[in-house]
Amino acid sequence: ADALKIGIAGLGTVGASLVRVLQTRADMLAVACGRPIVATAVSARDRSRDRGIDVSGAQWFDDAVEMARHADIELFVELMGGSGDPAYSSVKAALSRGLHVVTANKALLAKSGVELAVLAEEKGVILNFEAAVAGGIPVIKALRESLTGNTVSRVYGIMNGTCNYILTRMEKEKLSFETCLKEAQRLGYAEADPAFDIEGNDTAHKLSILTTLAFGTQIAADDIYLEGITNISLEDIEAAADLGYRIKLLGVAQKTASGIEQRVHPTMVPQDSVIAQVDGVTNAVAIESDILGELLMVGPGAGGNATASAVLGDIADIAKSRPGAQLVPSLGRPARQLDVYKRGE
Ligand code: HSE
Repeated sequence: ADALKIGIAGLGTVGASLVRVLQTRADMLAVACGRPIVATAVSARDRSRDRGIDVSGAQWFDDAVEMARHADIELFVELMGGSGDPAYSSVKAALSRGLHVVTANKALLAKSGVELAVLAEEKGVILNFEAAVAGGIPVIKALRESLTGNTVSRVYGIMNGTCNYILTRMEKEKLSFETCLKEAQRLGYAEADPAFDIEGNDTAHKLSILTTLAFGTQIAADDIYLEGITNISLEDIEAAADLGYRIKLLGVAQKTASGIEQRVHPTMVPQDSVIAQVDGVTNAVAIESDILGELLMVGPGAGGNATASAVLGDIADIAKSRPGAQLVPSLGRPARQLDVYKRGE
């Protein structure tokens, strides 16, 4: 069968991991997907940087938008991050051109996800974003596919690996906040600007995506009550422990009598609860729904390989899809229904 030609925009921690697994697992992927997957194009700002990967077989673009417009590819993989350009323009250009898109970019989706999902639907292409929320945990698949027919009442969890890593190491090793943050940066967990992690914005971006999928509402990241972990001291952590609690940065979205409530803040969770045991860069997402009951998923939430694994799953889904096949509901569909409802009011 013809190879699926993909273009990878962004060769940071995640992009480099993805290139590596595509190469080392090429045979296995070809069997699993029924066709080979080949990165025929890549783009990054700095061509000379040593990333420990071999991309000599791919066409190099200095500019992601150029790659989206002109590369000989069927699928555009966006791993640059950031809600603005070049991420936004390149994804838009790719979809407009009829390319499928896989992105790990929660900030982009929290801002422009509905617009991009609607564009993908109009063009009859797939927009996949499993890696955007909770790293390698298949929470998007759970909400879009596995829980079909369920009514969700609550989604909550630990969705930022950097914060959980910092809180865990502060507690277990009595290290300072700054030391733990530096270590999270060194390990490739943190955002380019770690303020997004520690001030809670990254969790809010992810929560807004889950809320939209779970409840069929518009994305409303800016409406989320937001408090990060920058004010949490070792004394707070120890005081919580004395009372039988641990402090976790949670994102919570739930149905209330007055609508969908969304919030992100440090939370005292009972020491014997499952979520309290989730340590380090690990994430956890709980979904409460009426047919299934409570689903709790725990797994790696950040880092090159964990994120690349989710990206790879999204790529494989597209490699296996056939033209005209039913697309799974995207971010655009529930939002559109809400638009129609609003207009009719
Ligand atoms: N900075 C993010 C985190 C990366 O620490 O969770 C994964 O989205």
